[in-house]
Amino acid sequence: MRVTMIGSGYVGLVSGACFADFGHDVICVDIDQRKIDALNANKMPIYEPGLAELVDRNVKASRLSFTTDLAAGVADADAVFIAVGTPSRRGDGHADLSYVHAAAKQIGESMKGYTVVVTKSTVPVGTGDEVERIIREVNPDGEFGVVSNPEFLREGAAIEDFKRPDRIVVGSDDPRATDVMERIYRPLSLNKAPVMVTSRRTAELIKYAGNAFLATKITFINEIADLCEKVGANVQDVARGIGLDNRIGSKFLHAGPGYGGSCFPKDTLALLKTSHDYDAVQRIVETVVAVNDSRKRAMGRKIITALGGEARGKTVAVLGLTFKPNTDDMRDSPAIAVIQTLQDAGATVKAYDPEGMEAAKAVLDNVEYCKGPYEAVAGTDALAIVTEWDAFRALDLDRVKGLMNAPVLVDLRNIYKPDEAKAAGFDYTSIGR
Ligand code: UDX
Repeated sequence: MRVTMIGSGYVGLVSGACFADFGHDVICVDIDQRKIDALNANKMPIYEPGLAELVDRNVKASRLSFTTDLAAGVADADAVFIAVGTPSRRGDGHADLSYVHAAAKQIGESMKGYTVVVTKSTVPVGTGDEVERIIREVNPDGEFGVVSNPEFLREGAAIEDFKRPDRIVVGSDDPRATDVMERIYRPLSLNKAPVMVTSRRTAELIKYAGNAFLATKITFINEIADLCEKVGANVQDVARGIGLDNRIGSKFLHAGPGYGGSCFPKDTLALLKTSHDYDAVQRIVETVVAVNDSRKRAMGRKIITALGGEARGKTVAVLGLTFKPNTDDMRDSPAIAVIQTLQDAGATVKAYDPEGMEAAKAVLDNVEYCKGPYEAVAGTDALAIVTEWDAFRALDLDRVKGLMNAPVLVDLRNIYKPDEAKAAGFDYTSIGR
């Protein structure tokens, strides 16, 4: 099949490269000439394990190419995927659909022959109708179907998630379009990933409901962790104890500093906006959003408590800045609120992250960025681990202690055992243990 991706960002690039690897002919389009030039030189605009090799292999096999020429990319395509950004709109929290609508218009102007237009970007319920209307308006005689096909890719594991998905959701009200989608995903359905065909609006809602449920699961265990601290229980054992119940499931029950990233915060807000518009307010999700927001700053205060209640004049080392490991993404990272809370209380912050420091510099001022974990901890009064990068899991605790002014360790991801940290002479605080 001939597949075109509009938008060569995170989702478009990973999906495009994976489709090419299945043997489809893929063109990835982006308006950013520098990004396309970089991709043509096999330089990845994002950090994602395995992506550069995947792109290189498929470019060499002539199944994958990059261009800024949308019209040429769309003309011969069997399916055109819209994978542009849908950031939260400033002011009202609604998803900003201007890029999606602009893409729809350009696709309508350029398509030839029957074309399936697929929204892969996460878009509010009803966006498919609007995409269809826009295309119809610019191309009244055009033959096309509009489909919703949400992505469920985790950053850092995106290629694995694409190639071995739990399910593929195709929201289509047009049998001809459904048939094209089934052919595109055939290599995956042969691998036994169920392709679930639903109405278009249902598919759009599945994406939001899925992310809101996962955000709820995380927030639930985070609050249970707070209770564990008060009653002297261990949240990891509670999570295991409930997670072994198949009805609950063991994943997404790691207590931590609150969820962040490019999806959960934005998608929960967008779901709430839709729920208000349709007068079906989602009170559970509303609470999840509020609890998660306040948790991030509460984690900063937890570090101040570990410092003895006073941050002024103290220096804190923060290890891990990205919202999770194996990404360079700082969007809505808990580290931002944690560091700002420390700075507001008068502390100086030194920080290190294996991949996120460039992005961190754009959002965090007055931080001393260090070259490695040991440089970061030198001369500090507390060490806070905020993101669980593997590189922080086996620190030489004796060396760390020797470099610090005071051996205070606040482990917001529970990557150390309390006993080992205490045995190494640390005043150790973690989450829910
Ligand atoms: C998420 C969804 O998993 C994916 O299906 C969707 O398509 C996009 O959004 P992503 O944002 O890449 O993916 O990250 P994910 O691994 O899901 O983690 C999100 C946040 O939750 C991170 O801040 C992570 O640290 C936090 N988290 C996750 C926890 O605090 N505890 C957990 O148990 C799991």
